[in-house]
Amino acid sequence: MGRFPASRFMGSKRRILNFLHDAFMQIEFGTALDAFSGGGSVSYLLKSMGKAVDSNDYLAYAQVVAMATVENKYAVLDEADIEMLASPSRQAPTFIQDTFNGLFFTPEDNAFLDLVSGNIDRLADPHKRAIARAALCRAALKKQPRGVFTVVGHRYDDGRADLSRSMREQFVRSVLDYNEAVFDNGRSCRAAQGDIMQRLEANYDLVYLDPPYYSPHSDNDYLRRYHFVEGLATYWTAAPIIETSKTKRLERRPTPFAARKSIYGALDTLFERFSTSTLAVSYSSNSIPTREELSEMLQRHSRKVEVFDVDLTYSFGTHSHKVGDNRNAVSEFLFVGRP
Ligand SMILES: C[S@@+](CC[C@H](N)C(=O)[O-])C[C@H]1O[C@@H](n2cnc3c(N)ncnc32)[C@H](O)[C@@H]1O
Repeated sequence: MGRFPASRFMGSKRRILNFLHDAFMQIEFGTALDAFSGGGSVSYLLKSMGKAVDSNDYLAYAQVVAMATVENKYAVLDEADIEMLASPSRQAPTFIQDTFNGLFFTPEDNAFLDLVSGNIDRLADPHKRAIARAALCRAALKKQPRGVFTVVGHRYDDGRADLSRSMREQFVRSVLDYNEAVFDNGRSCRAAQGDIMQRLEANYDLVYLDPPYYSPHSDNDYLRRYHFVEGLATYWTAAPIIETSKTKRLERRPTPFAARKSIYGALDTLFERFSTSTLAVSYSSNSIPTREELSEMLQRHSRKVEVFDVDLTYSFGTHSHKVGDNRNAVSEFLFVGRP
């Protein structure tokens, strides 16, 4: 088993994978749906545990990452592939240079993104293409201060080494990282893109739900933060840009997890749809629904409900000066409902 190439992604469960692993170990299952796969690390954990995993997310970016790391059993990019991808071409497209000039990256970096995007279609194997696209997205995320595309320019430049490396170097490094992550767990795994509310297939032993956490104090809009890599994942062929927006972002994509009035109903629908599976639901202590509300909702659909929690404030000593300051205390919950 390889190592998962990390990217910063809002709500990523990367830091609590051990906690999730221990909880999953207490459940007997062979097939799993990761319904909101996002950055992909939980799907990869499940694959590493030998499970047949279906990954789903409504972002094309998430699908590309899961195709490269979860669905993919064997495909890697060799030196000749990398050279081909980065080789100059007079037919290279210029969409990024034309659209994002002066916004996020230097002209050279934009030209490199265009060049590779144009060459990707020359790869015949869909999983090789997925590695190339995932690596290109990861390169762009690493080169963007704070890893989000909500502001233009470099006012948050924090001097990280990642920012000083060229897009080309970031891309090649990421390809090698993705190559390392490829393995076959002997099961069939699939990566899909779609609104989970529309997905009716329900015959999984385990369904893991990690929806966007809703809080009245901050927005949980993934597309607003990650529109650039979402566009890059399909080279802007799948969704229109809002031309008048400063950041040239993509049009909003509706999701019931963005509003208080719809989130309860959406969760209830999913709990009902997957009520014959073991449900594992991640949520956070500073979000709505509350721990009590979620437990109660799950109890209406599952025979037995357990709640596991991990304290993020104390487990990861990055903010040690804030220990004891309750405003920063936040727990991650995992609700497990058994059929
Ligand atoms: C908390 S994140 C998941 C993080 C992921 N488990 C990880 O470790 O990186 C929530 C995800 O839900 C996705 N999402 C939001 N609404 C959705 C919907 N209606 N259907 C499918 N995915 C959705 C977002 O794109 C985002 O990737």
